[in-house]
Amino acid sequence: MASEEQIVFKSKVTSYVMACWILAAFGGLMFGYDIGISGGVSGMDDFLIKFFPKVHERKMHANENNYCKYDDQLLQLFTSSLYLAALVASFFASRACTVLGRKLTILMASSFFILGAAFSAAANALWVLILGRILFGIGVGFGNEAVPLFLTEVAPAQHRGAVNILFQLFVTIGIFIANLINYGTSTVHPHGWRISLGLAAIPAIILLLGSLVITETPSSLVERGQEDKGKSALKRIRGVDDVDAEFQQIVVACEQARQVKKPFQKLFKRSGIPPLTIAIFIQIFQQFTGINAIMFYAPVLFQTLGFKTDASLLSSVITGLVNVGSTFVSIYAVDKIGRRKLLLEACVQMLISQIAIGSILQIHLKETGSLDKGLAAVVVFLVCTYVMGFAWSWGPMGWLIPSEIFPVETRTAGFAFAVSSNMLCTFIIAQAFLSMLCHMRSFIFFFFSAWILVMGIFVLFLVPETKGVPIDLVEERVWKQHPVWKKFFDDEKPKSLEMA
Ligand code: BGC
Repeated sequence: MASEEQIVFKSKVTSYVMACWILAAFGGLMFGYDIGISGGVSGMDDFLIKFFPKVHERKMHANENNYCKYDDQLLQLFTSSLYLAALVASFFASRACTVLGRKLTILMASSFFILGAAFSAAANALWVLILGRILFGIGVGFGNEAVPLFLTEVAPAQHRGAVNILFQLFVTIGIFIANLINYGTSTVHPHGWRISLGLAAIPAIILLLGSLVITETPSSLVERGQEDKGKSALKRIRGVDDVDAEFQQIVVACEQARQVKKPFQKLFKRSGIPPLTIAIFIQIFQQFTGINAIMFYAPVLFQTLGFKTDASLLSSVITGLVNVGSTFVSIYAVDKIGRRKLLLEACVQMLISQIAIGSILQIHLKETGSLDKGLAAVVVFLVCTYVMGFAWSWGPMGWLIPSEIFPVETRTAGFAFAVSSNMLCTFIIAQAFLSMLCHMRSFIFFFFSAWILVMGIFVLFLVPETKGVPIDLVEERVWKQHPVWKKFFDDEKPKSLEMA
């Protein structure tokens, strides 16, 4: 039975825990690097000439329509195929996490990623390039399922929120590094793009070596019946010998989880609906803020506005930096201000930015020609205020909230739905954005604004506040008290009876 207050177990920040954080860093970095690298590469002439000559021709055409010069399904497939692969892979990854453990799953993730980097960097034909993307995608699917789970399980309870956002922080660092690398390699002819894609192997190799060094998480060991190993792992992680109380809690949690033979079925029962709905919609909405239109295609978007290749890459470096910096705000604020206020504030900020961008483009950017310098600078500024809002709210909350709203028995299965919803919507945006830009032109920004309005209303009425609530008491203190969601628990037997 859970106590009223969260128990703080003894722990020190040991070198082992630090190693785990670095591990997380490289898992996130691997994901972020990939998000950031694709857009810059698809704007490079050498790359386009080799794989997408028609797009290149269109781009070179002086009078070409601004909004349509990059509209090409195959070019979008270059970016998006990764997420389709990741979507499928995340379900296998959730199984691998349970059966093989987190450590092996992370090792597999980095191996796929290294292969992906090798194929992509060496590609001479489009199909090899796409194969490389698919391998990358499997790596992302495995990594994004296992790394946050791994982190949650090794983090002392009182630092879990901050440690979780560390994953997102390194996603943003990965995106930023990728932008910088693209900026550098865009001047290396004709193979700069190969360097960009090949360098993805570096974080993956570090992650691979890291996953060989660290031990499995205590929960995963206990879950697979290796209690002795689980206890010594916990002692190592916590840096103290007296871990009995915490270990006991892990054993009880795993025991409880084991009684639920089919977590996916339990997830679809009445009481599973509220957390499942929130986890899925938080991720759908995260993507429909339009963030990846900026993250993937910022260089292309800035070229649409009339920037030259160099200036547009530089602008995306600036937005990358804003993304990293603003994530720190979230680490600081999430447990003080709370999740809901951050999400709501960001909706207002992102809405204003998007509407302003859309209006400027609508009035001033004609199909040919470019924005004048002053207005272009205003648009870059507005993109920055938009990214800022995302980075301290929907970015980190997309991963944090789904990880803390499920009871233990459905947590990993529920989280798999969050990961796959993210990947599905990332795929949709990556595949459709350039065509949408071509057909909707500046209205694309109003399209995303409408989504932001809807998600603001969703948060207002449906997303509960989980700040400071012990994770095992979320059902009692959050769901059962919520004006809308409490109905889903009406016919529930008390926990003690259910377990008997
Ligand atoms: C999202 C990514 C996005 C990134 C931007 C992550 O939380 O899942 O799709 O590109 O944030 O920083």
